Amino acid sequence: MALVTPTLHTPLCDLLGCRWPILLAGMGGVARHRLAGAVAHAGGFGVLGMVREPPHRLRAEVEALRAAGIEHFAVNLIPAATAPALLEQQISTCLDLSVPWMVLFWDVDQRLIRRLKDAGVGVIHQIGASGDAQAAVDAGADVLIAQGVEAGGHVRGRMTTFSLLTELIPWSPVPVVASGGIAEGRGLAAALTLGAQGVSLGSTFLATHEANAHDHHKRRLIQARGEHTVYTTTFDRNWHEPAPVRVLANRVTRGDYDDLKSQGRDQIIGEQDGQPVYLFSTDSPLQGASGDLDDMALYAGQSCGAINAIEPAAHRIQQLVTGAEKALRRR
Ligand SMILES: Cc1cc2nc3c(=O)[nH]c(=O)nc-3n(C[C@H](O)[C@H](O)[C@H](O)COP(=O)(O)O)c2cc1C
Repeated sequence: MALVTPTLHTPLCDLLGCRWPILLAGMGGVARHRLAGAVAHAGGFGVLGMVREPPHRLRAEVEALRAAGIEHFAVNLIPAATAPALLEQQISTCLDLSVPWMVLFWDVDQRLIRRLKDAGVGVIHQIGASGDAQAAVDAGADVLIAQGVEAGGHVRGRMTTFSLLTELIPWSPVPVVASGGIAEGRGLAAALTLGAQGVSLGSTFLATHEANAHDHHKRRLIQARGEHTVYTTTFDRNWHEPAPVRVLANRVTRGDYDDLKSQGRDQIIGEQDGQPVYLFSTDSPLQGASGDLDDMALYAGQSCGAINAIEPAAHRIQQLVTGAEKALRRR
């Protein structure tokens, strides 16, 4: 009997125009054109993390990605966490640039989804529960990203990735992508086996040469295990509501500064792009940041225990593909 080599190709790959069902998660500040381009060149799907970025930077990032030869990509925005005037400028810029896909997150804004669809933009919505998934699909979203509580960064829901997938897959009329707790090939294979059509990965791509995260963040992430991450609402500056994030434990999550918080004191702990970074800010340290880097929000998912080196993004994709094929063949 001939051996059949398992294929990772899913219908989502054709829809998005990528070789492998591996999406770069939209990570604000971290996922810029260098990382999105490297992921896309290696066969994945590049997403620019542009939350709250000014229109000139958004435009420059999209143009740089296109100059690198990438036509199939997405821009990630978080409407609810963005001031309405800035959001409108961001959306107009995306429409003006004919951005092919957008990844939206947090509250489901049905009017915005309909507007993007009417303008010919494909909409991918990251959700954390079935209610939001239904609202996104009703408004016309083309793809859902099911984010589990294991995920790094802001965490929308409370279910684990695989429980959420199991709930969504039977009824979802659109492809579902798994996000949270997945960093290597066996996780990709498991998600596909459960019926997901792809994965959206943040932490594993943060630990790459091309990610715009500060080296301190990358190093802390590769040294950590899942048990070193914390689900907390402590980082609440520059976000529109108290919201949980998953970060690496540090002095802030251990409560060393709780007195300052109860007194409502503003404390500057560093600088980024010429702007002050405040204690309890949701901004994670990027390349060029200075100050008390370890007191900033060091986002990381529970998958960090499987991420042990800082590598080129292409190498990471190759390992994901090889590992998933091996795991599926073993089955
Ligand atoms: C450093 C970092 C920044 C993030 N920023 C965003 C963001 O700006 N927009 C967004 O939709 N999700 C953001 N997320 C969440 C990701 O979209 C995704 O759900 C998460 O990374 C998946 O979990 P993983 O880190 O275990 O792969 C961020 C995650 C990380 C790790």
